[in-house]
Amino acid sequence: MKNIILTGDRPTGKLHIGHYVGSLRRRVELQNSGKYEKIYIMIADAQALTDNFDNPDKVRANITEVALDYLACGIDPKKSTIFIQSQIEQLTELTFYYMNLVTLSRLQRNPTVKAEMQLRNFETSLPMGFLTYPVSQTADITAFMADTVPVGEDQLPMIEQAREIVRSFNNLYGETLVEPKAVLPESKACLRLPGTDGMAKMSKSLGNCIYLSDSADEIKRKVMSMYTDPNHIKVTDPGDTKNNPTFIYLEAFSKPEHFAAYAPEYASLEEMKAHYERGGLGDMKVKKLLNAVMQDTIAPIRERREELAKDLPAVWDMLKKGSDEARAVAQDTLTRVKKAMKIDYFN
Ligand code: TRP
Repeated sequence: MKNIILTGDRPTGKLHIGHYVGSLRRRVELQNSGKYEKIYIMIADAQALTDNFDNPDKVRANITEVALDYLACGIDPKKSTIFIQSQIEQLTELTFYYMNLVTLSRLQRNPTVKAEMQLRNFETSLPMGFLTYPVSQTADITAFMADTVPVGEDQLPMIEQAREIVRSFNNLYGETLVEPKAVLPESKACLRLPGTDGMAKMSKSLGNCIYLSDSADEIKRKVMSMYTDPNHIKVTDPGDTKNNPTFIYLEAFSKPEHFAAYAPEYASLEEMKAHYERGGLGDMKVKKLLNAVMQDTIAPIRERREELAKDLPAVWDMLKKGSDEARAVAQDTLTRVKKAMKIDYFN
């Protein structure tokens, strides 16, 4: 049997290059590998509402943005099913049944949820919908019988939670659901791309992101003002490449042909790093190369995005078709779940 993929994103903003190396690029490769029976890509609007319930306009507007980002990066609706979470009501029903299999203390131990609670000042007044979103995420994954979930590192606790719920469901009610596993990005640099300001994570609220829709000027401005090694003051000073976002980005995005084209004095990134570390290589030169690499990476995506944005009704039509298809699959799982739970009274 071939494997099934499900993954998704919250529509709370346009997608940035952290999403790209952390998951989008991988999804496109997996999609084109032909190794998967089905690929489902979900726009998680219901999950986005768990901490944006007071801002439905933002969530709605970003569904279009995320869909455009997907298509522009090469997710192909002929090969992958793109759908909107809230339009699959079966997911809510599954969530309700799975809630019985999780305890409050288990949910409170989830490190990603904990960190997000802190960030959102939810510690004193915690919406239940937010606390339970890992259960709803288990519904997302299991509804499609997905065994493979390509995600960033911060999602590992969600996959662990899903595996526990699946095991306990199957133990109680008989073998029904598939236990998923996470697929992480290929390299450490891609696991968590730092912000342009050197902060650990790119985040819209910190204003430290490079977006897939950024213009050539915006990219250049952001790259040229990037944080580097604060102790690398004179060009001749030895510099650090490990905690230096310019080198982490080069690690994540540069290919051998970039060196041939833009920095032929170095055979590879390793040689350039060694030069920076021993001293004698200025930040300006590193940033010039990085700018060229980022321009080459983003330009085709941005151009495709602009083209697609000219026909938004076609994008929404694709989303509707994807959602209709996804609903049928989720209904099938829900029927089996209810049968296993012996609540299929009228069949
Ligand atoms: N929580 C994920 C994120 O914030 C989005 C998501 C929702 C998801 N449901 C999912 C990812 C199911 C993988 C599988 O990025």
